[in-house]
Amino acid sequence: MISCVGSTQGIFDIASDVKVLFLTEDFVLQDSVLKKLNECFEKPEILLKAHKFTGKKGDFVTLSTVCSDKPWYVMLVGVGKKNSTGVLDFEALRCAVGSAIKACKKLSVEAVSLSLPESALYAMTDAQVAQQLTVVAHMATYVFDELKDIKKEKKPWTAQVVFSGLNESAACAEGEIIAAAINKIRRFADMPANIATPTYLAEEARKIADQHGLKYTCFGKDRALELGMGGLLAVGAGSAQPFKFVTMEYSSPSATKTIALVGKGITFDTGGVSLKPAAYMTGMKYDMSGAAAVFGAMQVIAQLKPNINVIGLAPLTENMPDGAASRQDDIITHMNGVTSEIENTDAEGRLVLADALVYAEQFFKPDIILDIATLTGACMHALGTFYAGMMTDDDALAQQLSTIGNFVGDKVWRLPFDEVFNEGVKSDVADIANSGKKNYYAGTIIGGVYLRHFVKNARWAHLDIAGVAEGVPGVSYFGHGATGAGLRLFVEFIKQISN
Ligand code: BES
Ligand code: MN
Ligand code: ZN
Repeated sequence: MISCVGSTQGIFDIASDVKVLFLTEDFVLQDSVLKKLNECFEKPEILLKAHKFTGKKGDFVTLSTVCSDKPWYVMLVGVGKKNSTGVLDFEALRCAVGSAIKACKKLSVEAVSLSLPESALYAMTDAQVAQQLTVVAHMATYVFDELKDIKKEKKPWTAQVVFSGLNESAACAEGEIIAAAINKIRRFADMPANIATPTYLAEEARKIADQHGLKYTCFGKDRALELGMGGLLAVGAGSAQPFKFVTMEYSSPSATKTIALVGKGITFDTGGVSLKPAAYMTGMKYDMSGAAAVFGAMQVIAQLKPNINVIGLAPLTENMPDGAASRQDDIITHMNGVTSEIENTDAEGRLVLADALVYAEQFFKPDIILDIATLTGACMHALGTFYAGMMTDDDALAQQLSTIGNFVGDKVWRLPFDEVFNEGVKSDVADIANSGKKNYYAGTIIGGVYLRHFVKNARWAHLDIAGVAEGVPGVSYFGHGATGAGLRLFVEFIKQISN
């Protein structure tokens, strides 16, 4: 556990065991800094030269010494140079902060102070920088090791992290709220499916709702049968674990708008009877990452209290092969009466989301729906691990989500979504088919086209996070495992559209 605070003090006036200086490629060490370094290091400029520190992205040098009988460190971290539009790359700073915090954790120091480049160089305010970096600092401390050496007492690392010159306590506090939620949901996703069952996750969502004053509902098979949720029933049929449908509601008394967040919550995706090969099945515990993002966003919203109604919805189920499981060729009827031919039981995400989208519109009449899902392997191939796929017919919504995604480091890339793709989900025997015509390729878009049949009135965007939800390489503050994708985007979007 760390806590982040801002301070007006200079980095060497703050009592800390590690001073971290973030430097651009054209850095000049000010006299005051050099003077301080000189007090503890002999000829620091020679040390820097020897370490070939130039301020490039990824440059990282730790100088250590003993000052008044205590180990004392100075870290110099490169953040690169201005891009063609004259601003520094904030993602490089996020990664630099992530690396520094990880290095501090290794040293298990108790107090760290950071000296950052001026916010204006990133075209950001001090408050924005403080909020964003608080989130990142916490993210960098996350590890999923609770099921390792379980008999050993593990002491969490505790430290005070001070941002020198950024006296933005409210922004840091908001960052702490976001960070706590993001690390909580990364744990949900990293937790294996034998533990994190639909029942377990529904219970965790209930705890969030209870703690933060949200309305919570949860139903299972009986209600799903009443509602005619053919998709959820078909996917849940193969599992010994009962499926759950969770809703969480935040309402603001003077709100004029409602937004619904809908997350795919497949706690494990074997593919069903269209079984995945073993190598592709590993990691399918992460197939509930969309639902996790929704739960985490609801926790943050409950605390930030924006002036807008927010509904979180998540169908939670395993996708398992079994005597009772759905088969290829089955035809199901979704909650809005649309029939669907199951060509492949491994295209299960769209089946459960379809009913969830209909449910969201029917019961909450949202102005906007954002759905989030680890929906298609194709998305990883199309966009890789740094951008989620975004599909929407709403240009303004697309623009807003792209801009906010870049700002908070939860990036989305819009894919084409026009009517030429509609034929891709045609079926000879039902209204639509779930896996898509082979010769249409574009598996990610076809997944979105399927879902489009289930949104009638709301402005809507579909986010495919298959590539970004876990195992993202080269981003220091992610590390192994779940990334918490979508949460930062949702929270900032809701903040911006609330009034
Ligand atoms: N959960 C998977 C998608 C996925 C794959 C997420 C790899 C993360 C990593 C999804 O349910 C799935 O199996 N999709 C199929 C769809 C196909 C059968 C139309 C796919 O991508 O192959
Ligand atoms: Mn699947
Ligand atoms: Zn899946």
